[in-house]
Amino acid sequence: MNYTLIATAAFGLEGIVKRELSQLGYEGKTENGFVRFEGSLEDAFRANLWLRTADRVLILMAEGPVMTFEDLFRLVRGVAWQELMPRDAAAPVSCKCARSQLMSPSDCQAIAKKALSEELMAYYHMTWCSESGPRYPVHISIHQNQARIMVDTSGDALNKRGYRTWNGEAPLRETLAAAMVMLSGWRNTTPLHDPCCGTGTLLIESAFLAADRAPGLTRSFLLETWPKVDQKLLERYRNEAKAAYKPDQLPPISGSDIDPEAVELCKRHIHQAGLDGRIEVSVADLRNLQLPDGKVQFLANPPYGERLSDQKQCMSIYKGMRGLMDRHPQAHLAVLCGNPSFERAFGRRANKKRRFYNGRLECDYMLF
Ligand SMILES: C[S@@+](CC[C@H](N)C(=O)[O-])C[C@H]1O[C@@H](n2cnc3c(N)ncnc32)[C@H](O)[C@@H]1O
Repeated sequence: MNYTLIATAAFGLEGIVKRELSQLGYEGKTENGFVRFEGSLEDAFRANLWLRTADRVLILMAEGPVMTFEDLFRLVRGVAWQELMPRDAAAPVSCKCARSQLMSPSDCQAIAKKALSEELMAYYHMTWCSESGPRYPVHISIHQNQARIMVDTSGDALNKRGYRTWNGEAPLRETLAAAMVMLSGWRNTTPLHDPCCGTGTLLIESAFLAADRAPGLTRSFLLETWPKVDQKLLERYRNEAKAAYKPDQLPPISGSDIDPEAVELCKRHIHQAGLDGRIEVSVADLRNLQLPDGKVQFLANPPYGERLSDQKQCMSIYKGMRGLMDRHPQAHLAVLCGNPSFERAFGRRANKKRRFYNGRLECDYMLF
């Protein structure tokens, strides 16, 4: 059976999620914050397994205008939930409302829960829902009086690849790091170096991409617990992903950071990502870093200096990045920075620039 599936994404990343879906063979349609595509539950599994830049994969069960609680009840009650859910399904409901007539998430949640339970009870001839079985979290979004009723297939958000145990001072989301690598223009025949690698997110995401390693290869997804999925097909997709992984085809990938603790943490993450011996990291100040001559792709997420007291230090780092580029005339640089003074301190305008959000922080992604 085919469903409308929704891959959610951070603002600005929808286009790249669409591109990833197209590489997987699905035609996506971008909207604000997500990409829609058509597919079966097993396709949703493949998307969960392979999408590097999406946050979650959801099933769109219904959508339509809702002005009153009655409208919402009817919309939810009209869904054939039994096509997806068994009689013992546990279906927690959450709701977000914005710029709508219905603005109370808790009331909408209660109404939707009642409608869903009534539908399941009527279909399975039950007087109550035990909810003792597999989980089907229902997300309801009501925006400008338009409701979307969705079921989560991912479980943990997709940025949780399984290699990160501690976040460091200013971690970069894995999904955004993957987007940075994919948009950098890096051909994975060139060496890549992150001169302020912190906990190593950019290095690990670069290695995963270059080695064709599915980001979700070693984690599970919620829909794997559902009785209506074809477990054999899921196993086939997972085995295909295992076979695609070619860690031996990696070009030199390395990183450095001024903070020895960050470098230790980075090494731990590299180990947990199964990449021991494939990424080299060391303690170094980028202001006097020197790599072997030749082409290199620098990829960096320097400090932004959120506090006023850090500003001077940040300017010195950005200037230092310019020095690094001058010492490596064949280098390219892709940098994500939330400090609007980056280009001024760096002393050059970016060849290409786009806007991303790192959490709530507005950042420029710049290519030099
Ligand atoms: C925003 S964090 C990077 C986060 C990283 N992308 C991650 O995934 O964890 C910035 C990093 O720059 C490092 N840093 C600051 N000044 C530096 C310098 N002069 N040379 C090298 N690294 C520096 C900090 O130690 C910090 O780890």
